[in-house]
Amino acid sequence: MPLVCFKAPPRATSIRWPAIAREYDLHTIYYLDLWPTYDPMVIVLDPALAAQATQLKNLPKHPMYRLMEYTVGTQSIITTTGEQWKFWRKVFDPGFSSSHLATLTPMVVGRVKVFIEKLEEHAKAGEVFELLPLTKSLTIDVIGRVTMASDFNTQKQSHEIVEAFLAMPKYIPPINLDLVRLLSPSRIWNARHYQKKLDRLIGEVVSQRFQERRAGKVALGERSLVHLALDTYEQARELKAETLATDTSFMRNIVHNIRGFFFAGHATTAASLCYLYYLLNKHPDVLYQLRTEHEVFLGANPDDAEERILEEPHILKRMPYTTAVIKESLRLFVGAGTIRNGVPGLNLVDPKTQIEYPTYRDGPFPILVRAFPIHRDPTNFSDPDLFLPQRFLGQEAGEMKKDAYRPFEKGSRDCPGQELSMMEMRVTLALTIRKFNFDAAYPEDAPEVMGDHAYNVMFSSAGPARGLPVTISKLV
Ligand code: HEM
Repeated sequence: MPLVCFKAPPRATSIRWPAIAREYDLHTIYYLDLWPTYDPMVIVLDPALAAQATQLKNLPKHPMYRLMEYTVGTQSIITTTGEQWKFWRKVFDPGFSSSHLATLTPMVVGRVKVFIEKLEEHAKAGEVFELLPLTKSLTIDVIGRVTMASDFNTQKQSHEIVEAFLAMPKYIPPINLDLVRLLSPSRIWNARHYQKKLDRLIGEVVSQRFQERRAGKVALGERSLVHLALDTYEQARELKAETLATDTSFMRNIVHNIRGFFFAGHATTAASLCYLYYLLNKHPDVLYQLRTEHEVFLGANPDDAEERILEEPHILKRMPYTTAVIKESLRLFVGAGTIRNGVPGLNLVDPKTQIEYPTYRDGPFPILVRAFPIHRDPTNFSDPDLFLPQRFLGQEAGEMKKDAYRPFEKGSRDCPGQELSMMEMRVTLALTIRKFNFDAAYPEDAPEVMGDHAYNVMFSSAGPARGLPVTISKLV
């Protein structure tokens, strides 16, 4: 069957899977053969089938993830499998416990205060600007502390590690048949150069943190990821300090995992913050209710919110409407998903029809589980294209279709940073939405996808088209 030609603006992502399904009346799962560009793929559009691949079975990640090794290295939990993945995932788990995240809240508040300074400058200038670079710098400042115990202060100044990180994705090999780019000597040289540079710079930070531990300069209970890894190192090597520099295997594991968390932990949250401001601007009734909840929990004066949060960080989790707004925003504009690899003899079974779909024939099929089409399917969510935070409250939330809501994916390879990300978004909303009005400022002729100018586009990760142009005004 010829492939459908649907019109979408360049780089628009997420939209293609439901568009193809609609065109051919495919509901739950389909195969897509894009020979010779890719292997034939299985596209999963149904929660129960998604659960079979990720929760009931936890199928291995597809070799396509090796492309990510350019950015995150070969040893990070993002791309590794089996015992190695299990070991390192466990090492970092304590860095995301609820009690530890509460101790990180003041740090996040500090970073958001710098973000507010930047917003004030833009409000004063009264110009249109892209919001995404600002939210990215904010989330980089948070993830720098979480991963490396470092204060990059990217919102105000440049930093070598951050610069190298942001440059890296430009030199990843193309996934299409762009042979010119694939074989370009300058692309290949730059890819190697930035990988080496990142490894060297992050390695220096790890060594420095190690020395600080030896000098007794690290607070008890410090759980940034670099220190969790060094705890493990010290236990395994019985405190033989001198060996770290020469223990290249352990060092590579730490460095690549830091690269992995740094990569996965900033652009995703930065894009999600943009979508929150975009949706609140489009829905003044929701914004009003959100501000009202903040008044009730954080005080009538927006200037008191910071102190209230610092006094009791857990208060943020007790604000149900705020959580519902964030969840609903992630439902509408999720850019991530997972790609698993087919296994001989394993079929995905449609629970309604009992039809079996092989995941392997003459080789494994990549299995694409994308949350976007699942979240926008009317059989999973009523009025799926509407922004209705109340669906995450009370009885409606209790009746939500099993496994249909999956912005952070599900199963043992779900997102370890999800609670950190939720906390960053709660803090940022709590400290900004009563101080500023955000207005999206797309040109009138800007393209739309499904009624939105801010549709998801793919660069190194998904984010709002054109970086979300806005104007802002200060309220207090
Ligand atoms: C709104 C923000 C976020 C979203 C929507 C999101 C979404 C996801 C999704 C869908 C996956 C599964 C990916 C796959 O299987 O290929 C994932 C994995 C992962 N995420 Fe997140 N994430 C977010 C924030 C974060 C943050 C803040 C961190 C770090 C602190 C983080 C670290 C990771 C890591 C390390 C993995 C790989 C886990 C593994 O394979 O075991 N993410 N995330």
